[in-house]
Amino acid sequence: MINEIKNSNNECKKLLNGQWKESENGDYIEIFSPLTNSSLGKVPAMTKEEVDEAIKNSKEAQKQWRLIPMHTRVELLYKVASLLEEQADHLAELVMMEVAKDKKSAKSEVLRTADLIRFTADTAKTIQGEHLQGDTFPGGNKNKIGMVTREPLGVVLAISPFNYPVNLAASKIAPALVGGNTVVFKPATQGSLSGLYLVKIFEEAGLPPGVINTVTGKGSVIGDYVVTHPDISFINFTGSSEIGARISQMSKMIHVLMELGGKDAAIVLKDADLDLTAKNIVSGAFAYSGQRCTAIKRVLVVDEVADALVNKIKIEMEKLKVGNPLELEAADVVPLIDANSADFVEGLITDAVELGGKVIVGGKREGNLIYPTLIDDVTKEMRVAWEEPFGPVLPVIRVKDAEEAITIANESEYGLQSSVFTNNINDAFYVANKLEVGSVQVNNKTERGPDHFPFSGIKNSGVGVQGIRYSIEAMTRLKSTVINLNK
Ligand code: NAP
Ligand code: G3H
Repeated sequence: MINEIKNSNNECKKLLNGQWKESENGDYIEIFSPLTNSSLGKVPAMTKEEVDEAIKNSKEAQKQWRLIPMHTRVELLYKVASLLEEQADHLAELVMMEVAKDKKSAKSEVLRTADLIRFTADTAKTIQGEHLQGDTFPGGNKNKIGMVTREPLGVVLAISPFNYPVNLAASKIAPALVGGNTVVFKPATQGSLSGLYLVKIFEEAGLPPGVINTVTGKGSVIGDYVVTHPDISFINFTGSSEIGARISQMSKMIHVLMELGGKDAAIVLKDADLDLTAKNIVSGAFAYSGQRCTAIKRVLVVDEVADALVNKIKIEMEKLKVGNPLELEAADVVPLIDANSADFVEGLITDAVELGGKVIVGGKREGNLIYPTLIDDVTKEMRVAWEEPFGPVLPVIRVKDAEEAITIANESEYGLQSSVFTNNINDAFYVANKLEVGSVQVNNKTERGPDHFPFSGIKNSGVGVQGIRYSIEAMTRLKSTVINLNK
């Protein structure tokens, strides 16, 4: 329970060297629930000195952690996965209250995380180095033998976003740890209570002191200091493209893994199964109010089937449950994380309407709840054609053919994922080959899972590749030891 790491003033502690400690300067940030506006607790607003202490301790702890046998690290991860399952209801409740996610999705986030951690442990056992023979290269000889091993990088800085406060934290922490790194974990401020609860589970599982230390505080205040700290060896970041770009400009001579924003397109060709397409588009665009990097954020449909598709999307959207998940348990569309986000989405809708976009469904706002909104006849002049709403608004851009759809899809600054809906396998491959994105989904909504698949974005959508094996590889380096025989 989160209360176990709070004091009587509802103030959470920080994890440092295996101990939950009170904030030293007495400064806290209060976390309010977007569902009730009530306080859920406070997290330490850490000073530079406290950040230094956390990173220094992580660096020291890594010297021992890297020596721990792989099977022991793996056993610890299995224990974490089991504890997460045992505490899933409590943690899901906190996720729901803190980031306004419906209860079912919050619970499935926690259980998916247990699966991810267990699979990470399984995968780590299969990662081996290699043995190379010198004589395969011209001029080489058999007396030279290379042993290639995977080594940890040191201290990994894991920075997570608000929208998956458990899963996108664990998908950094687990592969980093199993690779022999220690972790300094900086959760999104809105989401930090859920993040600290997750860390408590790692600690309960028996992680040695210093293997994870927490850093809390506003990114805008401590972010630059943390990301430029000389003892950080690797930054694993998920969040907006704006902050990702800032971090990659500031960090010096270290690798980064970045999963950033998106503007995923659903391209619909004339022979698509429109019922399947409409269902996928609606769940892809509106689950958790579109607050997912992989949400479908625009539809590019060929003229021949545009009217029929818009009508089917409208019918599917009318089935969406909209409201506060505390009152409507299975709500698909919930209040956005904060008023700024709702203002931003409302601004996109207003701009589109002013420029001639037709609101087919929605367009209504109550507080931070934006009703699921479908805008037809969107043109390239409208902001909603290009900007990531991170909210429940879906623009439809009508195109004359697949070529025009590909051109508009690739004109985006983002390149996370795209879908193509067609019953013609040749057309599916043709379009997929031309799309400048990390993944293409044929006849399915865009989505990250399954979590062992490679997940990456190009252009402003990211740097490097996530996904269980790929994440472990990203956070380890190859080292060669060369044996030179003399006989
Ligand atoms: P965000 O505002 O960029 O914040 C992400 C994280 O960065 C938070 O922990 C934040 O801390 C921290 N941060 C802020 N300023 C920083 C700085 N100067 N230096 C270091 N860290 C800093 O993103 P968000 O609002 O949480 O998430 C929404 C965005 O993330 C969307 O653009 C979405 O597409 C993207 N996203 C991408 C993926 C993906 O896998 N591609 C997944 C999820 C989300 P504070 O909370 O304290 O500000
Ligand atoms: O928000 C970004 C997440 O990585 C998306 O994951 O496709 O499973 O919702 P998801």
